Amino acid sequence: MNTHLSANDISKVIEADRAHVWHHLIQHKPFETIDPRIMVEGRGMRVWDATGKEYLDGVSGGVWTVNVGYARESIADAVRDQLVKLNYFAGSAGSIPGSQFAEKLIEKMPGLSRVYYTNSGSEANEKVFKMVRQIAHKRYGGRKNKILFRERDYHGTTITALSAGGQPERGAQYGPYTPGFVEVPHCLEYRAQWDVENYGERAADAIEEVILREGADTIGALCLEPVTAGGGVITPPAGYWERVQEICRKYDILLHIDEVVCGVGRTGKWFGYQQYGVKPDFVTMAKGVASGYAAIACAVITEEVFDMFKENPDDPLDYFRDISTFGGCTAGPAAALENMRIIEDEGLLDNTTAMGERMLGNLRGLMEKHGVIGDVRGKGLFLGAELVSDRSTKEPVDEKQAQAVVAECMAQGVIIGVTNRSLPGFNNTLCFSPALISTADDIDAITETVDKALTKVFG
Ligand SMILES: Cc1ncc(COP(=O)(O)O)c(C=O)c1O
Repeated sequence: MNTHLSANDISKVIEADRAHVWHHLIQHKPFETIDPRIMVEGRGMRVWDATGKEYLDGVSGGVWTVNVGYARESIADAVRDQLVKLNYFAGSAGSIPGSQFAEKLIEKMPGLSRVYYTNSGSEANEKVFKMVRQIAHKRYGGRKNKILFRERDYHGTTITALSAGGQPERGAQYGPYTPGFVEVPHCLEYRAQWDVENYGERAADAIEEVILREGADTIGALCLEPVTAGGGVITPPAGYWERVQEICRKYDILLHIDEVVCGVGRTGKWFGYQQYGVKPDFVTMAKGVASGYAAIACAVITEEVFDMFKENPDDPLDYFRDISTFGGCTAGPAAALENMRIIEDEGLLDNTTAMGERMLGNLRGLMEKHGVIGDVRGKGLFLGAELVSDRSTKEPVDEKQAQAVVAECMAQGVIIGVTNRSLPGFNNTLCFSPALISTADDIDAITETVDKALTKVFG
């Protein structure tokens, strides 16, 4: 670590944090007796906390974000240069990096053509929900306004994004919710809900059943993660996406893919939906777009949808009456452009595929040794290992045990994740999403540490 804090400086920082910062995702009572963790520095795959302890980061900044690794000077330079030229102007005008990044992004997304900049993944999803509602008003007398979402998926933290959330514990105490959001069943074959051969098609047919129950003329869009992230790293079974696409076409339902986690390389292709040949109407993305070097999110849309918002210029309500103030920050697209250049020039998509296969192989190896691993799944450098107390009944381990594995890895200097207070009884999937720059040694170090932690917690 380059930054050397004196013991006195560290204790001042910790005391200020303890006194004034409300951390995300965490119960604060323990901080009355133990110190909150303060992260100080990062380089490549590694981070250091305020006590100087070094960690190998197996989850890219905790929540699958820092895809190109820490301390990328070229991104910092691009952001700095842009900030001193023009830091901000409202999104009613364009900007140089905004137009350049949009062009570059669209090159990677055949069939889509418009980029709408926003602040966060939640908000990008809300923009699409608003577009779908507006289309319902413009085209269908307000009727086709419902939005389908899937059990176990997550689309964000705001009240309306939580209304589209399939993870009950995330939303348990934040209702009442926005009306018009309807849940369809998850597609995790390991937790099969139907005893059939063609599981993927059957799970997609369950979406059609909901459409028929609700009335296709009331449904505007279907919003899905390509690979479910926080709901347990769920890769879709074969045949699922083909059938989903068919169903959307059959009932004139717009397809919104939430790429907030999978987007920009995480699965080994630019976008997760490209692994499955899907043709979406909307794609939203956030975390990996600029690897956390600047806040940027966006919704990407087909020209056909875009055209609906300029049909009748004499009508003062015909356009998309929406803004996010910080969607006009230029640091985001400046960082995103350089982030994309790095992924291309360093061949990080191929590396992600290769290292993802290595990690999947390592995790399958651990499965042979540890009966507590019931299932291993994922795509690219986006993997999960579901822990069960009994392989035949698939009884999930207690979430405290899953958390103990994470804590043990942390103590040994490796950061991994776990499904966190999302699904009652099913917060039992360890999560891995190391940066796309991972080497074979990094991957092996992560899985070796998991091996030791599983032995320590489960024997
Ligand atoms: C799939 C998915 N969509 C949306 C979001 C929300 O993104 P943000 O936290 O940037 O609002 C997340 C965050 O974890 C996510 O995993």
